[in-house]
Amino acid sequence: MSLIFFPPPIQQINSEITHQAGVDLYVLRLDLMHPWVNGNKWFKLKYNLLEAREKNFTTLLTFGGAYSNHIYATAAAGNLFGFRTIGVIRGEERLPLNPTLSFAVQQGMQLVYLNREMYRQRNTPALQEYLQQRFGEVFIIPEGGSNFNGVRGCTEIISDAIAFNHICVACGTATTLAGIALSLHEEQKAIAFPVLKNGAFLAQDIESLLTNYLASGLSAPSNWELVCDYHFGGYAKVNNELLLFSQQFTQEHGVPLDYVYTAKMFYGVMDLLKQGFFCKGDRLLLVHTGGLQGNVGMKERSQV
Ligand SMILES: Cc1ncc(COP(=O)(O)O)c(C=O)c1O
Repeated sequence: MSLIFFPPPIQQINSEITHQAGVDLYVLRLDLMHPWVNGNKWFKLKYNLLEAREKNFTTLLTFGGAYSNHIYATAAAGNLFGFRTIGVIRGEERLPLNPTLSFAVQQGMQLVYLNREMYRQRNTPALQEYLQQRFGEVFIIPEGGSNFNGVRGCTEIISDAIAFNHICVACGTATTLAGIALSLHEEQKAIAFPVLKNGAFLAQDIESLLTNYLASGLSAPSNWELVCDYHFGGYAKVNNELLLFSQQFTQEHGVPLDYVYTAKMFYGVMDLLKQGFFCKGDRLLLVHTGGLQGNVGMKERSQV
């Protein structure tokens, strides 16, 4: 099963800030891999789709918010690879559908809404049983593709990055970070920028993603670090400084950023460079995890 129509290019960013800091900075453009199933999404979905196919499931069911990149990508990937898809959406139905959900429906996804209280139970056996009863035999992928298969796919993101000593990535569930950390060499380090407020709690989630992934007896890698100061108020919160940064970055370097994830990570890296967080001679790789579809909905939501 392969979707990589465009192998992700690596683009160098030259600016006054990188020059002053004495570092080399590159962007791994996963956003350019495919128009719909791009960024970290393909990596998180790949082994889930393969397992579903191997086990003869014809329907995928997954979860997400109304603007979820994961819902968008699962709908498209399901359509491309011949699965029926069901998207369980948090909250009430709002019509007309926003651009993310109307795309999902165009791709053939059936949408089902759960109120927030029920949605919170999404990973419990009781709710999963209820969904299986309601929809028949469905292959369930957790929200954000955050499971063993998701981590496994993300170990393939950094396939040829030995030339870099810091790999930077935006962080939601930390599945992507876990996969990256598992794939690095000893002298490399992954730096993750949570987009949620008080993201330090993720350290525990990362430990469990790593230990669940490894065979028992193997110790989890500790080559990762969370930088929790660039959430801009929390998930999907933005301010003018972030918007301005994002627009200027795109103008200067031709790299579009999404406001929910990558803009915060790129802002964080540039700010840390100004503060001398990195050493002269460091070679940084920033992983562009996609998510650009969300900017359309964001504009609609907040007049960005
Ligand atoms: C564009 C984008 N970047 C980064 C992330 C964070 O990934 P993870 O949940 O694996 O930490 C997400 C969420 O999946 C995302 O949609």
